[in-house]
Amino acid sequence: MSSTVGEHQDDALADGFAEIISAGLRVEPRDWMPDGYRNTLIRQIAQHAHSEIIGMQPEGNWLTRSPSLRRKAILLAKVQDEAGHGLYLYSAAETLGASRADLTIKLCEGSQKYSSIFNYPTLTYADVGVIGWLVDGAAICNQVPLCRSSYGPYARAMIRVCKEESFHQRQGYELLMTMMSGTDAQRAMVQGAVDRWWWPALMMFGPPDANSPNTAQSMRWGIKRHTNDELRQRFVDMTVPQAKVLGVTLPDPQLVWNEERGSYDFGAPDWDEFDKVISGQGPCNAERIAIRKRAHDNGAWVRRAATAFAVTTTGAKGEFR
Ligand SMILES: [Fe+2]
Ligand SMILES: [Fe+2]
Repeated sequence: MSSTVGEHQDDALADGFAEIISAGLRVEPRDWMPDGYRNTLIRQIAQHAHSEIIGMQPEGNWLTRSPSLRRKAILLAKVQDEAGHGLYLYSAAETLGASRADLTIKLCEGSQKYSSIFNYPTLTYADVGVIGWLVDGAAICNQVPLCRSSYGPYARAMIRVCKEESFHQRQGYELLMTMMSGTDAQRAMVQGAVDRWWWPALMMFGPPDANSPNTAQSMRWGIKRHTNDELRQRFVDMTVPQAKVLGVTLPDPQLVWNEERGSYDFGAPDWDEFDKVISGQGPCNAERIAIRKRAHDNGAWVRRAATAFAVTTTGAKGEFR
């Protein structure tokens, strides 16, 4: 008898969730949600948070070697924004019951991933500009639709993140414009950076739709609003005119306007390379994780001190890990 009552309650909860999704409303932390929805969100938000935090490294590499005080101040602000994005996102994951300490451990152990793009090295200062233009540009394409994601805390975090990402893209483009009006060596530096980052930027949208098994369910749940291939196409269409204004060539001989589709046709990235980078064998994977672990270990005394302070002043239990 009691199990029948329980089943009715479960059905009512599932119906309530389905109604929220079909009405285009937001699911909030205290609402009932299926385990699959919760786990998919935790995985996606954690992966996003890790990407913001690891993503500080490639550009952070140039902070002490910026060519002027102005460039240093801009880059410092940008890298600091990325730390903020990571923190908003870890907070959003916490509203789903995930612990930030556990997510950090999973990142360091390699059981949770971050974007493949941050495993490539930054070889010249033009990379700072190209990351702003292409990498933050691709992030904007990915993230603007997430402002309408069905999970409230994630969608709201994305609104502020997207505003800051658009500043990041503009600062990158402005830096490249300045270099392109400089010397031949500077122009060559920009072109070299574009050649190295173009394909990895296209990989940021994830595998082709045919190899993306979770996309359909994520779209039914309103977590994702567009497929990987749709977003990749949108990015290419947005970027080609910007490349023309900048005066650089995108390294894809198959890139051509398709009048019928009203979009650009383009070549396929090297998906074998993508698989390698995602599985930990990219050029900088080991270095990125080693630096993240070292930073976490170096922060242990701060967490101990914060715990001691919380215990003595508020009687809090537990610890900052
Ligand atoms: Fe960011
Ligand atoms: Fe950014």
